[in-house]
Amino acid sequence: MQLTRRSMLVAMGLASAWAATPLAALARSIGKRADAPFIEALIAKMTLEEKAGQLTLLPSAWGGSKAAQFNPPGNGQSFDQQVADAVAGKLTGVFNGNGAEMARRMQHAVMTQSRLGIPLMFAADVIHGHRTLFPLPLGEAASFEPELAERTARAAAFEAAGAGIDWTFAPMVDIARDQRWGRVMEGTGEDILLGSLFAAARVRGFQGDDLTADDAMLACPKHFAAYGAAEAGLDYNTVDISERTLREVYLPPFKASFDAGALTTMASFNEISGVPSTANKWLMTDLLRGEWKFPGMVVSDYTGDEELIMHGFAEDGKDAARLSILAGVDMSMASNLYMMHLPALVREGLVPESQVDESVRRVLTIKAVLGLFDDPFRRIDPAREAKRSMTAQNIALAREAGRKSIVMLRNEGGVLPLPLSSKVALIGPFAEGPHDLIGGWAVYGDDAQAVDLATGMRKAGGTVTVAEGCGVETPVPGGIEAALEAATGADVVVLSLGEAQTMSGEAQSRTDIIVPRVQQELAEAVAKLGKPMVVVLRNGRALALEGVIRDAQAILVTWYLGTESGTAIADILYGSHSPSGRLPVSFPYDTGQQPFHYDRKRTGRPQPPGPRVDYKAQFREVPNEALFPFGHGLTYGEVRYGDLHLDGQVLPWDGAVTVSATVTNSGSHAIEEVAQFYIHDRVASVTRPVRQLVAFDKVALAPDQTKTVSFRLDRSMLEFYGLDEKPVVEPGEFDLWIAPSAQAEGASGKIRLTA
Ligand code: BGC
Repeated sequence: MQLTRRSMLVAMGLASAWAATPLAALARSIGKRADAPFIEALIAKMTLEEKAGQLTLLPSAWGGSKAAQFNPPGNGQSFDQQVADAVAGKLTGVFNGNGAEMARRMQHAVMTQSRLGIPLMFAADVIHGHRTLFPLPLGEAASFEPELAERTARAAAFEAAGAGIDWTFAPMVDIARDQRWGRVMEGTGEDILLGSLFAAARVRGFQGDDLTADDAMLACPKHFAAYGAAEAGLDYNTVDISERTLREVYLPPFKASFDAGALTTMASFNEISGVPSTANKWLMTDLLRGEWKFPGMVVSDYTGDEELIMHGFAEDGKDAARLSILAGVDMSMASNLYMMHLPALVREGLVPESQVDESVRRVLTIKAVLGLFDDPFRRIDPAREAKRSMTAQNIALAREAGRKSIVMLRNEGGVLPLPLSSKVALIGPFAEGPHDLIGGWAVYGDDAQAVDLATGMRKAGGTVTVAEGCGVETPVPGGIEAALEAATGADVVVLSLGEAQTMSGEAQSRTDIIVPRVQQELAEAVAKLGKPMVVVLRNGRALALEGVIRDAQAILVTWYLGTESGTAIADILYGSHSPSGRLPVSFPYDTGQQPFHYDRKRTGRPQPPGPRVDYKAQFREVPNEALFPFGHGLTYGEVRYGDLHLDGQVLPWDGAVTVSATVTNSGSHAIEEVAQFYIHDRVASVTRPVRQLVAFDKVALAPDQTKTVSFRLDRSMLEFYGLDEKPVVEPGEFDLWIAPSAQAEGASGKIRLTA
């Protein structure tokens, strides 16, 4: 399947089909009093306190779940107190609770005892699977297959909605260009097109065709906006970017999500140029509701409204609640500030009641869209929950997704795939054991239910001797000696190295994105034996590889692959499948190159090819490029790109040309190659990146097979944000590449767009 900006436009066309559905009609009715008499009648009956309650979301107080590690129970309440508050109309729902039984008890109390019987809504961070864990979103992006992300999101919704969850705080669609930032792992990495296509696919997957269905969940693309642009990659840090960069880089995945039907979004923790998102009226109202006509609702991030005080933007909690609601943030998460202050703010005339009503209208409409007024228990059925959990079908999908997320960076001398008969020494802290398999953002998952690497390799029929060698960041007594002993009798060493899953994710920024030193020492000791060495990386971000790890004969990037981690890696190691993943983030030579993205500007003094020249834009220590760039990934085949062919030397203003190249697999394995179509605008009124991905195509090639990959180029693919912050296309010359990565030459040529 070929994916282009055009196919996004087609998807937007589908969005107009969506516009004709009852869901869209309901969505459109938000804000139109006459179209929603039922909701208006309800609002008319509500007290100010009940209105504030509908805008208040709290962490679940249901104890005993792993979820409590992520979010401490709300306000120190007991579950019974929380149920009593729900019955009193003081909350709209809870998040990161656990299971249909909890939801049943709360919903039953509210529906039988509360004054107005407004159903609760249950939310959760279902980021990459519920009980069955799929690869980390960043890993899955490496598949360059948005359709796969749609399927895994659908499967996650099937399980999670089965456990009573109506609303997921996903997908995370923040473009992330600084690998020091720990939350890179939650998104799709550095590229705008890939980010937008995956964002839309995940929304479609979570929400399905019908949001009232008992296997559909409301999506919440987050964090709006530019959370990934934090200075120095430090989580929560200041963002200071131009409106053009915001519009061109950080907003497109959000726009794509809304066009795919997402009806909620979450305000980001960061400020942008001095204004925290949670109080940013321009962002939440002028742009989102005004310019984009977004019909849905905005929730703050966890205590994001209260944090306006720490930002130095609000005086106190009351002021923070006032600023947030006036900016257009409809629902307050975790702080309870809306419940505490909105009634008084309205009574004192500091917030118009109409503004509160508007937010309540959005929330109630969304509950209606979810079918909760028709049947508050539609997703709540403890028997169904068990039946939907970890089905054979979902586990098979986890294995497929795991395999497709693996990226082979290098394979010198064809050391991979390993013959099943080879004696393998599997060494390193991630070789064996129920840890670091599902990733750090799996509220309902369990490493003990996932397959580790040693088990996966043995299941495949391999002969494996395991040695831990060292811990993730600390030595193990006698570890290196045991590793050397295991390696001595082996034909090949597989080193399972990288980051623990707690080293990426929220608040896990790093100043040095390397494999921890103690693991490098282990690798150096083992490398001295001179055996063929395969490095299998576990990571939640791009890493700067060094020394013998960087120079190993083969390197696989395996992220955190989820439930079928070990089996999926074994599928690749032993060659039942060829690697097909491509890097969604560039692996730099050195941390000091961050922030890094392949679509950078050339500058007035670009580095010329060849040896270092003074007074050019370059580092003293390392090249400007990436060690392994965005889009890079090898297969077990041998791929050659033919010459670029254009069916016209000129691109007419209202026309199109077909740009094509042959791709040949001259190897002996069946493969999938991701052909990437890049452009560069040579001269423009706003300087343009050295390359920009505008389309890609994943093609299956049998041994000795040649296929022609073709892309249709029209002027919409050459658009950028002009001086007036509006999309523009300018005539002129464009360089073109169909290539296997952002740094490869592949097949190249140029074209002129005429006015
Ligand atoms: C995170 C959000 C998450 C929320 C609720 C916050 O700390 O930034 O991404 O959805 O917690 O768990």
